[in-house]
Amino acid sequence: MSDSTLSAFGLTAPPFSKEISDTDLWLPPSKEELVEELVDAVTARQSVVLTGEPGVGKTCVLRALRQRLPKERFRLTYCHNATLGRRDFYRQICLAVGLSPKATAVAVFYAITTEVEQLATARLHPVFVLDEAHLLHPEVLGHLHILLNYEWDARALLSIVLVGLPELEDRLSLGTHKPLLSRLHARLRLSSVSEEDSGAYLRHRLVLVWCAKELFARDAVALLHEASAGTHRDLDRLAGLTLREAGRKKRKQVEGELVREVLDRHARA
Ligand SMILES: Nc1ncnc2c1ncn2[C@@H]1O[C@H](COP(=O)(O)OP(=O)(O)OP(=O)(O)O)[C@@H](O)[C@H]1O
Ligand SMILES: [Mg+2]
Repeated sequence: MSDSTLSAFGLTAPPFSKEISDTDLWLPPSKEELVEELVDAVTARQSVVLTGEPGVGKTCVLRALRQRLPKERFRLTYCHNATLGRRDFYRQICLAVGLSPKATAVAVFYAITTEVEQLATARLHPVFVLDEAHLLHPEVLGHLHILLNYEWDARALLSIVLVGLPELEDRLSLGTHKPLLSRLHARLRLSSVSEEDSGAYLRHRLVLVWCAKELFARDAVALLHEASAGTHRDLDRLAGLTLREAGRKKRKQVEGELVREVLDRHARA
């Protein structure tokens, strides 16, 4: 967002950027509840799957989870490069947990499971967060339940949090992945938000850049909400474009008519 747009509305920083700190995230009761469910599941040393449409805020929910888990009790490892084959996938986990990646598949797997067991001895619960999990290679998805098996499958030493698009649910329900699905205790969905929530989200983001004014008229919020289908990333993009246009036209507020003009000029999806 240009400096002229920022100064036109007295904003201290671009309001709809992805660079929002964990502590500033917008967490209405529905999202708080989801974060609580995730916290409860990993505290109970369970594994979880979380799905939702692109841009609906899944990774931000993970960031909220990261904030909630005390570092002295949990060791969180985040992996988002999901398209690797099995050996490289486990090598990536090795690197992420601070182990030197071994050469053979057996050695890599052994190094990770030994690390998990050692963390358990140190009363540190490991949580592997696998983002973009709908893209996981079938041989990885088909093997993850083995990573959850400690002491003849009688100990819960590791939590896996799988996060991805709704198609992840379909993949998990395939016969070959049932052993993993049956070990995912909580199966959570992050839905797109309501129109009221979209309005609250826009206000939240504006307050973070010291703007207390209602920069978006009610009809503008309704149109932006509809065009973004209740997803935050699209709302960020469209809200930023309309604010820029309002600044250019020297308007004090974004109104519905201006949103329509902008939507006509820009591709919606
Ligand atoms: N709780 C939130 N608080 C503040 N901003 C948010 C929140 N959730 C989402 N956003 C905004 O929406 C953008 C997209 O959210 P996020 O990356 O979490 O979506 P996603 O569901 O992980 O999407 P994808 O499936 O494409 O990975 C973020 O970069 C951020 O700007
Ligand atoms: Mg994401």
